Amino acid sequence: MARPFLKWAGGKGKLAPTILAAAPPAIARYIEPFAGAGAVFFAFEEARPGTPALLSDANAELIETYTVLRDQAAALDAALAGLAAEYGAADAEGRRAMYYRVRASAPPSPADRAARFVFLNRTCYNGLFRVNASGGFNVPHGRYKNPRIHDGELLAASSAALQRAELRSGDFAPVCAEARPGDFVYLDPPYQPLSATANFTGYTRADFGPADQLRLRDTFEDLTRRGVAAMLSNSDHQAIRGLYSGLAYRLVTVPMSRAINSRGSARAPVPELLIDNFGRVGLSDGEALD
Ligand SMILES: C[S@@+](CC[C@H](N)C(=O)[O-])C[C@H]1O[C@@H](n2cnc3c(N)ncnc32)[C@H](O)[C@@H]1O
Repeated sequence: MARPFLKWAGGKGKLAPTILAAAPPAIARYIEPFAGAGAVFFAFEEARPGTPALLSDANAELIETYTVLRDQAAALDAALAGLAAEYGAADAEGRRAMYYRVRASAPPSPADRAARFVFLNRTCYNGLFRVNASGGFNVPHGRYKNPRIHDGELLAASSAALQRAELRSGDFAPVCAEARPGDFVYLDPPYQPLSATANFTGYTRADFGPADQLRLRDTFEDLTRRGVAAMLSNSDHQAIRGLYSGLAYRLVTVPMSRAINSRGSARAPVPELLIDNFGRVGLSDGEALD
């Protein structure tokens, strides 16, 4: 079964069934402009196989990894198997040294770059993707005992699921501008932090701040005016409610626990907001969200 092959902050595995059940019954194309590890895409592909998809994310290395998995699965599989064997055979100090050597490397081939990306994702601290001001991956070595670096079956299933997906890297706005009536757009942006220190939004060099949240709301409104069904998730924060209230969207609160957070206290369920425009684009509300 295809499911995310990466650990990703804000992964939506748990929310996917709710989103799927609420999605319009007939969809020409599934569009996910903040794809991340693709939890909702993979669940969607499982439930409605063969639906054309457009996946996009501002993280270019992530999208290159998806592209290699779709088009050169065997080369990625072989490169990852090699890295997994070397890591598995090393002692603790050897693993650490290998991690920093791979982190510092810049492989010339796309397959080796993708293998590096997956390797670092499986072995880094907390499975975080975080970059420094110049865009370099700067997460330290993790403390997993036996990380699953190479999972041939999962790679094969994920590669199969990606065969009909178009992949892009870049900002969400141009992708949304391309959506047409009949498509379904699911938007899962970096969340509005619930407190000044609570959240992690460092997926890319550019942070996703209040101006981006506003730009996203305007994009959501533009999709709505053009008759494109869309759903968005975010934290249940006053600022987000403020942006989406009074526009005849449906706002529903769902409890969610965060999978990735280094502070134990922040792992408690926090309410999330699911927002859709189905009423405004002439769709019935689908399945109840709550
Ligand atoms: C909450 S995560 C998505 C998680 C995904 N739904 C999953 O299940 O793994 C948000 C994603 O937005 C991406 N991102 C950040 N700024 C962006 C932008 N301006 N346009 C498009 N994607 C962006 C990040 O790289 C990150 O992968």
